[in-house]
Amino acid sequence: MTSDHDTGTIERLDSGITELAGYRDPDRNGWTREVFSAPYRESRQWTAARMRDAGLDVSTDPAGNIIGRLEGASPNAPALVTGSHTDTVDGGGRFDGIVGVVGAIEAARQLRESGTRLSRDLLVVDFLGEESNVFGLSCLGSRAAARELTPADLDRKDYRGVSLGQAYTDFGLDPDALTQVQWARKPLHAFLELHIEQGPTLEQRQLPLGIVTAITGIERFIATFSGSADHAGTTAMTDRQDAMIAAAEAVLAVRREGCGAPTHGVATTTRVESESRSPNVVPSLVRMMSEVRSVDTSWLGGVKGRLTGEILAKAGEYGVDVNFDWSTDNEVVHASPGVQDVVASAADTLGIPWMPIPSGATHDAVHMATLAPMGMIFLPSRAGKSHCPEEWSDTSDIATGVTALVHALQALDTADLTRVTATP
Ligand code: GLV
Ligand code: MN
Ligand code: MN
Repeated sequence: MTSDHDTGTIERLDSGITELAGYRDPDRNGWTREVFSAPYRESRQWTAARMRDAGLDVSTDPAGNIIGRLEGASPNAPALVTGSHTDTVDGGGRFDGIVGVVGAIEAARQLRESGTRLSRDLLVVDFLGEESNVFGLSCLGSRAAARELTPADLDRKDYRGVSLGQAYTDFGLDPDALTQVQWARKPLHAFLELHIEQGPTLEQRQLPLGIVTAITGIERFIATFSGSADHAGTTAMTDRQDAMIAAAEAVLAVRREGCGAPTHGVATTTRVESESRSPNVVPSLVRMMSEVRSVDTSWLGGVKGRLTGEILAKAGEYGVDVNFDWSTDNEVVHASPGVQDVVASAADTLGIPWMPIPSGATHDAVHMATLAPMGMIFLPSRAGKSHCPEEWSDTSDIATGVTALVHALQALDTADLTRVTATP
């Protein structure tokens, strides 16, 4: 099933991924194309051109999402939506998000070229800035589409003190117009996102497809540790209020939390910074950024209380104060059982083996789930590597995913998704 793909499909998927990878920040590692950056801005013209080339009507909404429309027989019927993102993390790879945009454009092309007319519009979306960014917020475009982007979010500042609202303005978007995303205000029929797994499970089980059951919730915090600046040569170890030591204890507490999760749970500290630039001053102000993820709602719900208590208690032993800024990037979101069933039936009909799988990464699908029944299709990632330059998925696997996407979209078009059934 996975090897007999049309050569045109393979060539278009290959060239799409390779050409998009050319829009990268030359000063950063890997295939860096961060939201609001110059290479990202340039790449969006490429994406729009690719959509036009596939026969789609292209527009950009006020939130910066690029939408390619394949007109259906009843344009007023609730639309079917697919897509993902083309921004990357700093030092990222060529497939995360990109596969879901290039693959969706290919799916729309195949539908059009085969003369298949869906009963409703198909919207292929390249959502603006999905990756968590310097403002600590992910999924900017889909969040705005779902009207979940708040004025407080726009006031978030990066490390230079620039606000998210200003970043939108500098990118040529009006922050006051972000919620005016008309296509997402109308009822939508379903949302289905194709994405790489970003983990090792499918490859280990030698399965070409995963059908996502749930998407992880994410709790993040920035902790500010305040101690006392003192001479590093003359202050006795017992007399110090060393903010760095309190932060170091906190890093380990975060790790313990992840290790202690009853089912799938992970906890990561991504940044620790001291205000002190001198090697001979006891650190008095340290900031640390951490996140905890799980699809286990009850465990994740207790994380904030547990970690805050443990970090405060340990810091207190060192005479250090801690201030926490907690934020929920997203709650745990379950995929629609109806959409899972439709995708599973399409895969079974095509003879593509699959497994149900939870997502430890977050996705635009989280926010689209507030607008329509949502599902995701995962493809294997080599060695489970992702958010790094080594990220890789074979083109034949991507083509298999596109085949599943095409058939699932056709089945979703006519499916009654209000009839919820159980997924195996
Ligand atoms: C996005 O890839 C995330 O999971 O943070
Ligand atoms: Mn992604
Ligand atoms: Mn990612």
